[in-house]
Amino acid sequence: MGVYEVKSLEQYFKVYKRSVREPRKFWSKIAEDFVWYKKWDKVLEYRLEEAEVKWFVNGKLNITKNCIDRHLAKRGDKTAIIFEPNDPDEEAEHITYNDLYNRVCKMANVLRDQGIRKGDRVCIYLPMIPELAVTVLACARIGAIHSVVFAGFSESALAARIQDCECKMVVTSDGGFRGNKTIDLKGIVDGALETCPSIDKVLVVKRTNADIPMKEGRDEWLAPLYEKASTESIAEVMDAEDPLFILYTSGSTGKPKGMLHTTAGYMIYTAYTFKNVFQYEEKDVYWCTADIGWITGHSYILYGPLANGATTVMFEGVPSYPDFGRFWEVVDKHKVTQFYTAPTAIRALAKESTDWVTKYDLSSLKVLGSVGEPINEEAWHWYNDHVGNKKCPIVDTWWQTETGGLMISPIAYATPTKPTYATLPLPGVQPVLMDEKRNEIEGNQVVGSLCIKFPWPSMARTIWGDHRRYKETYFSAFPGKYFTGDGALRDEVGYYRITGRVDDVVIVSGHNLGTAPIEDAINEHPAVAESAIVGFPHDIKGNALYGFIILKETGETRNRENLTREINQYISEHIGPIAKLDKIQFVSGLPKTRSGKIMRRILRKIASKDTANLGDTSTLLNPEVVEDIIENAV
Ligand code: PRX
Repeated sequence: MGVYEVKSLEQYFKVYKRSVREPRKFWSKIAEDFVWYKKWDKVLEYRLEEAEVKWFVNGKLNITKNCIDRHLAKRGDKTAIIFEPNDPDEEAEHITYNDLYNRVCKMANVLRDQGIRKGDRVCIYLPMIPELAVTVLACARIGAIHSVVFAGFSESALAARIQDCECKMVVTSDGGFRGNKTIDLKGIVDGALETCPSIDKVLVVKRTNADIPMKEGRDEWLAPLYEKASTESIAEVMDAEDPLFILYTSGSTGKPKGMLHTTAGYMIYTAYTFKNVFQYEEKDVYWCTADIGWITGHSYILYGPLANGATTVMFEGVPSYPDFGRFWEVVDKHKVTQFYTAPTAIRALAKESTDWVTKYDLSSLKVLGSVGEPINEEAWHWYNDHVGNKKCPIVDTWWQTETGGLMISPIAYATPTKPTYATLPLPGVQPVLMDEKRNEIEGNQVVGSLCIKFPWPSMARTIWGDHRRYKETYFSAFPGKYFTGDGALRDEVGYYRITGRVDDVVIVSGHNLGTAPIEDAINEHPAVAESAIVGFPHDIKGNALYGFIILKETGETRNRENLTREINQYISEHIGPIAKLDKIQFVSGLPKTRSGKIMRRILRKIASKDTANLGDTSTLLNPEVVEDIIENAV
């Protein structure tokens, strides 16, 4: 994929200008490098006011032919995926492109034999094991829409996701290993399926050898079906705009949003950005530490790297197991060249002795990446000094589940980096900052709401089953523009720095958590009358959650410690342990506007212990509660 490669800042500006001046020509030229059953009739059709976008109209292709088949002649014996197990004593697995082809075809045949057809939704609830990658790709091969649910989500969060897009099948495992824990995934699936009538079949991968119940007629072990399946499977002919996957992200109401991504634009964009931002070269070994349950794993463990014929590492474990040197041990062991992780992991490791880092040979590294939340200056320097040895550019990549691919990011070795800055928009991305009056803010050294004013190929096309919500959430605040929900500043040279969410989403340890679903979970507790959740700064997690809770009269007399524990238990059950509250304050009231809306701005300031300037509270319905909350803040 040589076209429009960027190797210097000068070249970046040239390519960027071309991508803005002639976006259709620009993207069609890149698209020429892929394998198509039939080329497109028209590059782009769009009406952003209506949230309608189509790329490569009437093009026909299959993404797995591009991610696997086309590499076989030249790279059949090259490693596609290195699987690094949780337990360092278990041998790593090197899956070549030939192996991957066979495995994906076999799995595709299993899915077809089990009645899965083009357009059906398949829920994948698996740990980070090769079968996860294989099942995702097998769905894509037969045109089934995969909906991967992160295997840390709880029973009811899983059920909500299965129900929303009416999956026909779940692929799961008998369990998963994470550090020194074993997780009973099948048990969680069994619980979830009590309320999921759309599911006919559950395929179960063996991983932990746990003794688990199998429901007659519904549950099947994968292995025997897989063993007898053929290694040839014709790739379904997909339209450029046929759905590829659904991935759920938090919203400002309790219901998660099933972001729908389609085939051609997503493929081309993730492939192009992967190659350029990470400067991937043929012999490199690339490692992204994310889980495939998140968009980072979809786009930059699987699709983007595989479309480039890359070697991509898939890690089952956690950075602290068996000790804090694990990441660096793996880098050393596999001679990783590009390493891509999240600020929360960097902060956690930076707290430990640097001996964990210096113990290993990290000289193979060429590029470091960061994703998921703003990276603070201290973490940036620690990463740069101790991991990159001051010779690896750090690509601080800003993007979202909704954007499908990297949007604002340095291009390694081309864009000069600046700590805490995501720097410049990638080719094809047209960011703008908007003021409160919905006007575009021109010039530099300005701050505003970050929007994108022109379509890019990998943007989500809709929210599954709810186009109106898609339009309202992303295209109505600033009509004709995509609103990201983030605030940003543009410095004197035009570099962007993301300042954080301007809506009710809090990023905790790099996980995007809507406050509304957490409040919904808490409010189910019989002693709770009402609650409000906000984020506050936390050394390692970036943000942590602070809950302001009003108890019902009946709950007032109960033991607060027990209540706190129970409330967190409710959150764990409804969403997952990642959404637990760090601080809980029982309050008599919540500050509200006259229209009854909770003034989160004030609660955020109280939670952050920044109460010197609370702004105007006179418009509140109940200004008196503010004093009370400040006095009793925890
Ligand atoms: O607030 C931004 C933050 O993460 C949000 C998107 O979260 P999610 O959809 O879960 O995707 C995360 C992985 C792409 C954004 O709206 N965010 C992501 N990357 C950065 C970031 N904030 C600052 N700097 C980043 N590099």
